Amino acid sequence: MARLVIVSNRVSQPGARSERAGGLAIAMREALRHSGGLWFGWSGETAEASSSTPHVVTAGGITYATVDLGKADHHEYYVGYANSTLWPLLHFRLGLISYRRHAFERYRHVNQHLARTLAPLLRSDDLVWVHDYHLIPFAAELRDLGIANRIGFFLHTPLPPPEILTALPHHGTLMRALCAYDLIGFQTKGSVRAFLNYIAEPAGGRHLGEGRFVAFGMRSRAGAFPIGIDTEPFARTAERAETAPETQRLRESLAGRELILGVDRLDYSKGIPNRFEAIDSLLSDRPHHRSRFHYLQVTPHSRAEVAQYRTLRREIEAAAGRVNGKFAEFDWTPIRYVNKSLSRQTLAGFYRIARIGLVTPLRDGMNLVAKEYVAAQDPGNPGVLVLSCFAGAASELDAALLVNPIDVDDIASAIDRGLAMPLAERRERWNAMIGVLRKNDITAWRESFLAALLDRGSVVPLRSVASG
Ligand code: UDP
Ligand code: G6P
Repeated sequence: MARLVIVSNRVSQPGARSERAGGLAIAMREALRHSGGLWFGWSGETAEASSSTPHVVTAGGITYATVDLGKADHHEYYVGYANSTLWPLLHFRLGLISYRRHAFERYRHVNQHLARTLAPLLRSDDLVWVHDYHLIPFAAELRDLGIANRIGFFLHTPLPPPEILTALPHHGTLMRALCAYDLIGFQTKGSVRAFLNYIAEPAGGRHLGEGRFVAFGMRSRAGAFPIGIDTEPFARTAERAETAPETQRLRESLAGRELILGVDRLDYSKGIPNRFEAIDSLLSDRPHHRSRFHYLQVTPHSRAEVAQYRTLRREIEAAAGRVNGKFAEFDWTPIRYVNKSLSRQTLAGFYRIARIGLVTPLRDGMNLVAKEYVAAQDPGNPGVLVLSCFAGAASELDAALLVNPIDVDDIASAIDRGLAMPLAERRERWNAMIGVLRKNDITAWRESFLAALLDRGSVVPLRSVASG
């Protein structure tokens, strides 16, 4: 069997000082756990200059090869182009974009540097799988070095329609580089449709059916591969975690009240201020809920080097203070806002005892927290998932209470409904969702993508995409 080589900016090295929460790293760790292989990317550390020799360690059947980023590379490639230009663009937030031409040049340069560093480690039959928006030009750089392996790409974020994508200066350069991959995977059919629409116009390419297309003089294929989680093992972890000391402490602190739980990196795509407003609306319009629940929002800091994230942090802190100031009693506060990162095991126990999982991003590629919340539930007494219709997960989890996160009254009504929902309805909805999560788990995701990369599997059929 060919070796799997995963390439991503963020690498989750066991025991690394800079390990951070984030769906991509957690999913990659699960995807590699069974097959083993090589995982290449940034160490999470900065140095005076980017290193050219990777630091290699092997643990649990996975070889980790990581490089430090030079301070200037980190600043312009990661903080600048990847997270101040591409991230807001890909989440439909044109107003938050900051763009500098030299940051784009540096982004291309770092991709070239990383490709040159990985190339000597590659064997001719390796399957190379590159992840996320930091590394769009990576395959084109490997091809320039004469690497002929099959190379796939998966975008963990949404892809916006051409009307938004074309706002990016030099979008053609970036999209041409994307077409150098043999297979381009997206989270949803909506993103595939957006991509193929771009290929048709403005790229002037042609869709040949089943995701195959020609554009920029290249032939490639795109498909939807919704990412999953390790459903069954995570459900077992949650069952065990129910009696863990942290879960018991949390339960005792609730003093018989219901728990509403939100878990998100501190990111403007997650819609956290809207959620706090929804709690305000709920407690104002339906006062019988006062003192009846605690809403715990777990929000580890993220990308604090980016100005927009620092602004958001102040905004969220002020909103939490405002709502708590308005409704708190001497023995109750509605919102518990926690900035720490918790382990996935601890989260599993918290999900399990939460009556409502509140997942209301304004845009999200998938949102693994929504899937983890469902997998963690007690089948005999499951909680209710309140889910944004703009999360990729909504395509599969349509038995959740779906809300438009811009409409805070819609979120408030869904919480109200979730808190009152009879057991029979909760079980019916949960059974529908867990069935999907068992079928589309992380192993199914990895295998379907790799089969398609080897041309042995089909991409999810795109009935709604017109071939032209
Ligand atoms: N997570 C974690 N600790 C935390 C917060 C989040 O381990 O304190 C994990 C969470 O369990 C999930 C991932 O981080 O696996 C977040 O993935 P998601 O797709 O929801 O969002 P992303 O951060 O990738 O945008
Ligand atoms: C999202 C992105 C990942 C990223 C993660 C954490 O999941 O899709 O590529 O790794 O957020 O963000 P960070 O900037 O800390 O890597």
